[in-house]
Formats: sequence, C-alpha cells, structure tokens
Amino acid sequence: MHAQALSMVFQDADAAPAVHRIDEPIEQCEYLCDGELRHWSGPRQDVLSPVVRASAQGSIQQRRIGSYPLLTEAEAMDTLDSACRAYNHGRGDWPTMSVEQRIAHVQAFVVQMQAQRSEVVRRLMWEIGKTLPDAEKEFDRTVEYIADTVEALKELDRAASHLVIEEGVLAQIRRAPLGVVLCMGPYNYPLNETFTTLIPALIMGNAVILKPPRLGVLLHQPLLQAFRDAFPRGVVNTVYGDGGEVIGPLMRSGRIDVLAFIGSGRVADLLRRQHPRPHRLRCVLGLEAKNAAIVMPDADVELAVQECVLGALSFNGQRCTALKILFVHERIADAFVDRLAAAVDALPAGLPWEPGVRITPLPVPGKTEQLAQLLADAQSRGARLVNEGGGAVHHTFMVPAVVDRVGPGMRLYTEEQFGPIVPVVRFDDTAQPLSYVVESDYGQQISLFGEDPDAIAALIDPLVNQVCRVNINSQCQRGPDRFPFTGRKDSAEGTLSVPDALRVFSIRTLVAAKTSEGNRRLVRKILHMRKSRFLATDFIL
Ligand code: G3H
Repeated sequence: MHAQALSMVFQDADAAPAVHRIDEPIEQCEYLCDGELRHWSGPRQDVLSPVVRASAQGSIQQRRIGSYPLLTEAEAMDTLDSACRAYNHGRGDWPTMSVEQRIAHVQAFVVQMQAQRSEVVRRLMWEIGKTLPDAEKEFDRTVEYIADTVEALKELDRAASHLVIEEGVLAQIRRAPLGVVLCMGPYNYPLNETFTTLIPALIMGNAVILKPPRLGVLLHQPLLQAFRDAFPRGVVNTVYGDGGEVIGPLMRSGRIDVLAFIGSGRVADLLRRQHPRPHRLRCVLGLEAKNAAIVMPDADVELAVQECVLGALSFNGQRCTALKILFVHERIADAFVDRLAAAVDALPAGLPWEPGVRITPLPVPGKTEQLAQLLADAQSRGARLVNEGGGAVHHTFMVPAVVDRVGPGMRLYTEEQFGPIVPVVRFDDTAQPLSYVVESDYGQQISLFGEDPDAIAALIDPLVNQVCRVNINSQCQRGPDRFPFTGRKDSAEGTLSVPDALRVFSIRTLVAAKTSEGNRRLVRKILHMRKSRFLATDFIL
C-alpha cells in the first residue's frame, strides 16, 4: 500500500478517461442576483484540485482547475436586497404562492438539475477528491432528497387542510416561511448538505442566499441557470468570496432571518454574534463531532472491523458522522487491531475516477501537515502506529493510519481529525468509554458492537441521553434521510431530516375565530369562494 500510494500521486491525471477530465480550466465569472446571471470582472479565487501533477521542472503542484469570483461587500449586499425584495416582508409572490405552485417550481428545477449530473459529478471529483461512485451517490441522493421533500410537504399540507375547533374557537393552522435564509454548506458534501437546507428553505416560501463552501464552489456553477430559470426573480441568489468580506456584512445588516450553516462551531459562533438582534435569528447548525465506537468483548470482530473501516475511512474520514475514535475491549483488542490494520491496508488508493478506489487526496490546504502533527503528538505520548507506512504524507495525500493505545492527554483522543487516522483506545471497563462520551464536547452519534443483549441494553440507556443516535453493530451515518439528524452539545442545533427540515425553515401560524354564527358564515364564504390561499381546505393529491 505504501509504495503504491506514494507513486499514485505522480500518476498522470491526463490519462483519466475523457469524460472525467478537466482539460480547460473553468473560469467562473458569474453570480446569481435578482434573477439574472451577473458578470463579474473583478478579482477571482484560483481553484486548486487536491489532484497534483509534476511540473516540467519536476516539482509537484496541485492542479489549477479554474477560478470563481471574489465578490465584495457591495455585491453581497445586492444579493441581500434582491432576496429581501423577493420576500417583501412575506408579501412577495414566492412566500404567498400556493404550496402546489411552489412544488411545481422545485420540480422544474430538478428536471434541469438532472441534466447537469455528469458535470456536477466531474467537478465533485476534481474539487474535493470524492470518488466517482461517492460523487454520483451524492448527486443522486440529493435528487431523491428533493423528491422526498416534495412528498413530505404534500403530506404536511394535507394535514393542515382542515379546520380545528377547540373551546369554541375555530382555526386553521399552517406553516409559513420565516424570511431570508443564508445557506452555507460544508466542503465534504458541498452539494448534498447545502441542498438539505436550501431546498426545504425554498419550498417553504423563504428567499435564499447560497454561499458555497470555500472548497466545492465550481460544482454549483452548472446549476445557476436552472436556479435562474426555475424560480421567480430574487428567490435564489448566490454569493462567493472571503467570508469576512461577504458574509460579515450580511449578518451585521440584521436582515438575515435564518442562518443554515454546516461547518465549524467557531465560524457558526462568529456569524451568529454579528447579527445585531440574535433573538431574531434562527440558527440551523451542523457542527463538529467525534463519534466513538465501543467494541465489546463478544463482538463479531469481522463485522465490527468492516463497519469501523467504513465508518472511519469513507471519503478519507471527512464526514461529520465518521467514527473518529474506537474503544476496543482489551480481551479482543489484539485480534481487532490486527484485522483492522489489514483491512485498512487493503483499501485501494488512487485518483477519484479510478475503479475501486477508496482513498484519495485531501482538498483542505495544509491538512496533511495538520494530520501528521496529530499523529506525531500521539506517538510521542506512547501511541503505536500499527500499519506499516500508515501516516506517510505525499503532498495532498496521506496513507491511512491505524494508531493503537491512544489515550487521555493526546490530541487525537479529543480533537476531531476529519481525515484518514483511526485511533484505537483499549478499555477493560465500559465506564471508560462512557465517561469519555459524557465529558466530550460533542454529542452526535455512537456505534456499539456486541452480541449480549444485557450489555448492549446497559449501554443504550445512558447513551441516548448523551448523543442523538446509537447505532448497533453498524457504523454512524446520517441516512436514511427521513430519520432525524442532529446532535447535542457542540455538534448541532436544530434537527434535519426530510420532514424536520420543513419545520425548521417555517413557523406555525394560524387564522382563528370564535365560532359565532357570523364568523362561521364568513369563514364558510371565504372557503367556498376560494378567497384565501391560507384559509383554504383544498388539498394536494
Ligand atoms: O458530514 C456529515 C454528513 O452529513 C454525513 O452524512 O453519514 O450520510 O455520510 P453520511
């Protein structure tokens, strides 16, 4: 694995099948504002791929695959004005449109989006180093998420299409939009996780400003026309550039009603603090995690290793849900660690489009150096690197490392590595992993491996109040997307699932009247003559 991995980065990416190549850099000069693709002729940010190549002089460099606009405060404020106009204090066409019509706009968008599948997939591979099957899965899962969201909204609307009468008061209760939503997704799922907030926000009648993550910008470009054509003017806007320059002013304006942000807690806090009236700002946040696995002495080692490898190293460990620390019972630790190292060493490394590849170069600048420091810190404090060549770094690439005998005092024990390092902690009493989880700053998910119902049940009950999903004999993961996805402590704020997201981006509002004869007559007339979109009992089939 070691030698293969090191030579891999020198491979000529021009030998990629034509369908996956980027022969000419993609110079993005447009952004979406007020229903039009505006041309930007100012400075642009170079986009460097994690895929490297040897220059004519023999030095190794990341390949430049294009650039995107570095907008300024002025353009950012234009996008805000555009979104505010489209929302128009809840009186715009979009927030007052019937649910059925809004669904039709979203469906028109999906048709155009699907035509861009191969282009988006290609850019996902080059911009963030995601493997071809994972990039395809990210795209398809997003399309499915949108279809499921449409169905969930129909259900929600049907449930709201009747009057309720309580204590002599009749009412119709529906969910209404909140205003202008700023959507910022993460680099590891730049399409999917951005859309899991963007689509529910839109379909509930909000106007949106989309800021793609710093890595994973160009893949959104093929969708700009679809946004422009499928939605009314100003309902979707995009902004690019340095966060301090373009996002700071948006937050300080006080005109952002919802911040949907998936990334680090540090940035989330920074953004939220800039809003002049934080009580008016609803935050939907997906933040860091350090999900643990607890491997009990009676665990099926083969299955546990298989799930832990998937959990720890899918997309090189760059998932918020990744297993980032494995607690393994002393009694099976030797066998487990041996199998784990063998399974990790067997993962094929290569460029994202190569068949069967599982480990790819990392897109975050300086990431391999930071991971190497984590590894060195652990080794200097007594941890043992198990797999030969593990942790070897070559520019943007790191050979996955299995590190045994990790423990308190090492950075790897508490810090989220978000990369291809698999720390193993040996334990002989479940009190140790339990107190680890209690004391952790994070609280997203956990995986338990074992067969004994008493032992597993004894762990489930204390753990469900520490994290938000306990996985049995399975890796941690977000899906199925209709399941609630959230976290405690520093890991999240708000719950995102297909049905929950519709609630997060809306608020319940009602029309109520005492049931006097006059009011009954009035309401009946409004209903029968279909005078109101809100006070209506029609429902979508
Ligand atoms: O990065 C966090 C993602 O939401 C994880 O999703 O578990 O489906 O990979 P996943």
